[in-house]
Amino acid sequence: MRIPLMSIPRFGFGIKGLDEMLSGGLIEGTVSSIIGAYGTGKTNFAQYYIWQGLIQGQSALYITLEERTSRILGYMENKGWDVSQYLDSTFTIVNLDPSDFNLAINSVKNELPTLIKKTGAHRVVIDPVSLFEDLFHDDATRRREMMRFLESLRDLNCTSLLISEADKTNTFASKYNLIEYLSDTVILLKYARGEDANDVHLAIEVVKMRMSQHSREVKPYEIHQDSVTVYTEATVF
Ligand SMILES: Nc1ncnc2c1ncn2[C@@H]1O[C@H](COP(=O)(O)OP(=O)(O)OP(=O)(O)O)[C@@H](O)[C@H]1O
Ligand SMILES: [Mg+2]
Repeated sequence: MRIPLMSIPRFGFGIKGLDEMLSGGLIEGTVSSIIGAYGTGKTNFAQYYIWQGLIQGQSALYITLEERTSRILGYMENKGWDVSQYLDSTFTIVNLDPSDFNLAINSVKNELPTLIKKTGAHRVVIDPVSLFEDLFHDDATRRREMMRFLESLRDLNCTSLLISEADKTNTFASKYNLIEYLSDTVILLKYARGEDANDVHLAIEVVKMRMSQHSREVKPYEIHQDSVTVYTEATVF
């Protein structure tokens, strides 16, 4: 039986402008990616996604490959969020060390699905997935393994958000030009520079959203101490 798309739950970020651009949020059971250069706020968006789930009573799993657990928790607390209350129950945060090649590859491929099942995580973040992609020796292996990995995430009934570094020369693409093809939804974060070289803005775009309507407009956003604002009424330059 076909389930009407409108009735599939959406997993929002709790950032009004962004949720509007996504027609409510990420579609339950799908895999999405946020692609952006360093400092564009990828980790910030990931944390909003996690927090929004926690305050709605969902469980969340945050896999950090780059920053220590304590720092991630510190960032979230600095936003005024009492995350510690969820740590023994619905919030699990795991720090993987990608420098340990075998450990990291096996942890992500084999242990992560087990952990998702065990925690019953509704929302899963991997930040950044690029460090996992780095572990494969060649493009063909990376493509095959990442396809399998994303399929395993879809099978687990969680709604995943993969954080990806942008390509150094083409900031519209991810580091390996791969995750954007494999993901159901792609959100792109960009630095936008006006004619005046000092006029720098951050801009967000929903590039792709399988099975859904979404905004195709590029919108400015700002990161503040305790909020992120996406200006849906404004245009970028
Ligand atoms: N408390 C804050 N108040 C204002 N701006 C902030 C705050 N925290 C972060 N930012 C802004 O967000 C940027 C970094 O955000 P974030 O760590 O989410 O980026 P990122 O894309 O994950 O970076 P990286 O690729 O290095 O991991 C900072 O450079 C700063 O401009
Ligand atoms: Mg980050």
